[in-house]
Amino acid sequence: MNLEKSIKFTEQVTKAHLKEFYDTFPPETSHNLVYVGKENISWTSGFYEGILWLLYELTGDKDFYNSAKHHSKSFRERLDKGIDLEHHDIGFLYTLSCVADYKLTGDEKQKRTALDAADILMKRYHPEAGFIQAWGEMNDPGSYRFIIDCLMNIPLLFWANEVTDEQRYFDVAYRHMKTTVDNIIRDDYSTYHTFFFDYKTHRPLEGKTAQGYSDDSCWSRGQSWAVYGIALAYHYTKEESLIEIFNNVTEYFIKYLPADSIPYWDLCFGDGSGEPRDTSAAAIAACGIFEMNKYVKNEKFMKVAEKIMESLSENYTTEKHPESNGFLTDGMYSRKYGDEPECTSWGDYFYLEALMRMKNPDWKMYW
Ligand code: GLY
Repeated sequence: MNLEKSIKFTEQVTKAHLKEFYDTFPPETSHNLVYVGKENISWTSGFYEGILWLLYELTGDKDFYNSAKHHSKSFRERLDKGIDLEHHDIGFLYTLSCVADYKLTGDEKQKRTALDAADILMKRYHPEAGFIQAWGEMNDPGSYRFIIDCLMNIPLLFWANEVTDEQRYFDVAYRHMKTTVDNIIRDDYSTYHTFFFDYKTHRPLEGKTAQGYSDDSCWSRGQSWAVYGIALAYHYTKEESLIEIFNNVTEYFIKYLPADSIPYWDLCFGDGSGEPRDTSAAAIAACGIFEMNKYVKNEKFMKVAEKIMESLSENYTTEKHPESNGFLTDGMYSRKYGDEPECTSWGDYFYLEALMRMKNPDWKMYW
């Protein structure tokens, strides 16, 4: 693949639409491959700012910096007004906006905002069961569950521990990670999307899907959240047991990749199924493999990650769709609820993060 050309493409698309998204954010997904900007009200609003920071790092272009800084402000406002924060995705939101800003510019105000966000995320922790609740009211027995995606939210707490030295952040992130690997990963190292505990006894109850095909299938993006989430947990904890878990969940993901290495939306589907793919799952897994390779070299996994990236950049970008303002086609949000293949705001972010990691393996990540 031509790495420079692939990066250039993301730069050109973003630059061409910078004004359009100056006061808004691309929503969760595009419509006919075009994002229509909306306010900072979704779990996905941070991904666009992450893209701006990555492009600023890659190009040094101040326009990306100025737009990223402008967007950072709205994350403070969102916190102060309490706009759509009743869920665990505060990690996605504030890591790629305020933490990234603080890490790159040293802006203390952004550090404060990210720490305030971490404190809100801490409130979703159930100490008796040892997990961070994904969605819903905290006293609703029907919402007493966590989901695999949350491995990507706990880096906000690991980071908060690093910058404040306050143990409580580490303890919650660590315990949540442990509860996740002990319960949501099946014996064959596939994953449930979500896992319920008993509200009265605080004991593990059962795995269920939300966005996958069925309770006993393996949702592709869930497995890729596991690949990357475990790599990030290893980064922060250096817990030896995570290496084997990472190897096994990654092996499982790879085993079900079709010929072109871009998974169908659930790993129970293969070539000939007629089902849509999920390019975002591919990009997320590639980032996880690149991250883990910093600590434990694995040539086989690296070859797969590079093949994924080659496949994405050669066959799944919007290059043939000049009307598009996204990067990757064929992302799948929730097929189960009738969604069609589109650009996804997180898929675009992780694609560019993976390109950054290929260009600079020592890249200092925002997570
Ligand atoms: N974290 C939500 C999703 O992956 O769709």
